[in-house]
Amino acid sequence: MAAYEMILTEVQGKVAIIRLNRPKALNALCDQLMEELGQALRGFDADPEIAAIVLTGSEKAFAAGADIKEMQSRTYPAVYLDDFIGKRWEAVTHVQKPVIAAVAGYALGGGCELAMMCDIILAAENAKFGQPEINLGVIPGAGGTQRLTRAIGKSKAMEMVLTARMMDATEAERANLVARVVPLDQLLPEALKLGEKLATLSAPAVAVAKEAVNRAYETTLAEGVKFERRAFQALFATEDQKEGMAAFAEKRPAQFRNR
Ligand code: CAA
Repeated sequence: MAAYEMILTEVQGKVAIIRLNRPKALNALCDQLMEELGQALRGFDADPEIAAIVLTGSEKAFAAGADIKEMQSRTYPAVYLDDFIGKRWEAVTHVQKPVIAAVAGYALGGGCELAMMCDIILAAENAKFGQPEINLGVIPGAGGTQRLTRAIGKSKAMEMVLTARMMDATEAERANLVARVVPLDQLLPEALKLGEKLATLSAPAVAVAKEAVNRAYETTLAEGVKFERRAFQALFATEDQKEGMAAFAEKRPAQFRNR
């Protein structure tokens, strides 16, 4: 496994865990960290032994945003030519397997945006979400104005992006930003449980389901429904569809073989 300096990786059963690990900077997302994260995500996505990926941080911070000190002196030509933030940050959106963000503490700026790029967000009771970029004289640059608005609606997103107000976990759940809130000591166990559940299912069906839900963000209802129908029909070409339906009829657990 590659040697990383700013993330820790671990595998439990069929679930990979990637932990952002820059505690002194509250996991500020510098270029090196994002390069390492991209590499780890691509590696686990390509590994047939892995069914799901959990992305987490520390108890104090999932991530406090892009690294402000690293960005501070950058110029427009430099950020433009480097396509800052796109290139390094989009790795998680290209992962085919489900990615679960397990968020404790601060998920601010790029931290909130990174969590929103994941498929499911589980939040610990101490989680805090926010887009405070406006305080720095800029705006969210990794999808915050778009994904937050789609997740929680215009008025709340506008308030958060314009005033930097943070949301606590309770409000984030009420606003549909997160799937569930759990006690802090249950965050990783619950994320792993979710990953293990996904590992028992048909991998092609899970990947297609993820793609279909994501399509809802990119297209019209009519096109999305058509995409879903074709994807649903295509799954009848898998052995797992035969196995899943036979297992139901025979009143036994399905044994999916991911084909
Ligand atoms: N970048 C660089 N360093 C950061 C950082 C960041 N985003 N967030 C925290 N740190 C560093 C602090 O500078 C500090 O380092 P030193 O000990 O060397 O001074 C260390 O982490 C601990 O932070 P604090 O002392 O500030 O901790 P706190 O508990 O008092 O406050 C906090 C926590 C409220 C999260 C505060 O650190 C904070 O406001 N951080 C910045 C949040 C922010 O503005 N994020 C948006 C970044 S811009 C962005 O993300 C753009 C985008 O869209 C991608």
